[in-house]
Amino acid sequence: MGCFSFFCGRDSKWNEETSTAKWRVFSLKELHSATNNFNYDNKLGEGLFGSVYWGQLWDGSQIAVKRLKAWNNKAEGEFTVEVEVLGKVRHKNLLCLRGCCAEGQERLIVYDYMPNLSLHSHLHGSHSRDSLLGWKRRMSIAIASAEGIAYLHHHATPHIIHQDIKASNILLDNDFKARVADFGFAKLIPDGDSHVRTNAKGSSGYQAPEYAMYGKSSESCDVYSFGVLLLEIVSGKKPVEKSDLMQKVSITDWALPLAREGRFIEIVDSKLNDDYVEGELKRLVLVGLVCAQNEPEKRPAMLEVADLLKGELKEKMALIESDEMFQPGSGTISRDHTEVLNENLDSLTKESVEEVKEAMEIEKTET
Ligand SMILES: Nc1ncnc2c1ncn2[C@@H]1O[C@H](COP(=O)(O)OP(=O)(O)OP(=O)(O)O)[C@@H](O)[C@H]1O
Ligand SMILES: [Mg+2]
Repeated sequence: MGCFSFFCGRDSKWNEETSTAKWRVFSLKELHSATNNFNYDNKLGEGLFGSVYWGQLWDGSQIAVKRLKAWNNKAEGEFTVEVEVLGKVRHKNLLCLRGCCAEGQERLIVYDYMPNLSLHSHLHGSHSRDSLLGWKRRMSIAIASAEGIAYLHHHATPHIIHQDIKASNILLDNDFKARVADFGFAKLIPDGDSHVRTNAKGSSGYQAPEYAMYGKSSESCDVYSFGVLLLEIVSGKKPVEKSDLMQKVSITDWALPLAREGRFIEIVDSKLNDDYVEGELKRLVLVGLVCAQNEPEKRPAMLEVADLLKGELKEKMALIESDEMFQPGSGTISRDHTEVLNENLDSLTKESVEEVKEAMEIEKTET
C-alpha cells in the first residue's frame, strides 16, 4: 500500500467534502448514532477537556466528536455562539469545526475527522514505529503549522492566541498536510473553572517562561511553543526528556549547544536514516531556537516565522545565524529560568509562581 493511500485511522474513504461543510448545530441523538453511543471502540483519544470519538454521519462523512467533561457548565446558548465564532475561522491549515451540540449537561464539538491523527502519535505515540514522517513531510508540517498559527495571530478577526500549541494539537489529513487544532479553546472553558483554566492553557515543556511564571499570555507565548514544536519535529525528541542522570532536560537546552558548534546532524531524528536536506535542517533548528528564547521581545512574529521556514527571508536568516545566541561560548539560552522551571514544569500553577520567583531571586543574590 502506497504512503498516500495509507491512513492510520479508520479504514474507509475520507470525504473531501467535509472540509467545506457548513457549520451547524447537531442533536445529541444524531451524535449518539454517529459514534455508536460513544462506544469505546470509537474512541480516538483523550485530553484534558474530554474524550474524542470517531463517527460517521448519515451521509457517510466522517467526523471527530469531542465530548467535554461534565465541568463545562457554560450556558447552552453561550457555548453554541462561541463555537460558532470559532467555526467561522477558516484556513487550509486550521482544523475545521463542523458544529456543536449543547443539550442538558452535554457539551460536544464536532470536527472534520483527520485520518492520519496527530503529529504526536507519529513522533512519540502509536504510529512512531511506522516511520511515515520523512523529511519532506516534516518540512511541510512545520510550514503549514506556522501558516495556520500566523493566520490566527494576524488575520483572524478577532485575533486568536492559541495558548496550547503542541504536537497532539497538530492533526494530519489524508495527505499528511497539517491542521492546527483546538485554537480558541480557552474561550470555551467557563470562567469559574480557574483550576482547569490554569492547567489547560499551555502544556508542560511548551510553555513560555513568562506565561509559566506570570500567567502573561500573548502571541509570543505561541511563538515560544512553536519553537519547541519545531525542535521536536526535527529531532523526534519530546519537549522535556530525562537525561542519563535522570534529570529533566528541555529540548532547547539540549539543542542550543549543538547548534552553536554547528553539530546540526546530531540534532536530527535518527529515524530519518540520514535522509534530510542539510540547509533546511539548519533553518528549522535555528528558527526553532530563536522562537523558543526567553525574551519575548526577541522572538519573531509568526508571519515572519512562516516566511523564514519557507526560505524566503535570506537576509533575516543570515542575521539570525550571526546572532549572539549562536556564538560559541555565549551563555545558555535559558539557564536561570529553565533550571527552576524544569523542576516545576508538571505542577506549575499561578499559585506557585510567587514561590518560583522567590527561589529565582534567592538564587541570583547567592551567585
Ligand atoms: N479531528 C480529529 N481527527 C482525528 N483525531 C483526532 C481529532 N481530534 C482529536 N483527535 C485525536 O484525539 C486525541 C485527543 O485529543 P484532545 O484534543 O482531546 O487532547 P490533546 O490534544 O491530547 O490534549 P488537549 O486536551 O490539551 O487538547 C488527539 O491526540 C488526536 O489523536
Ligand atoms: Mg487537542
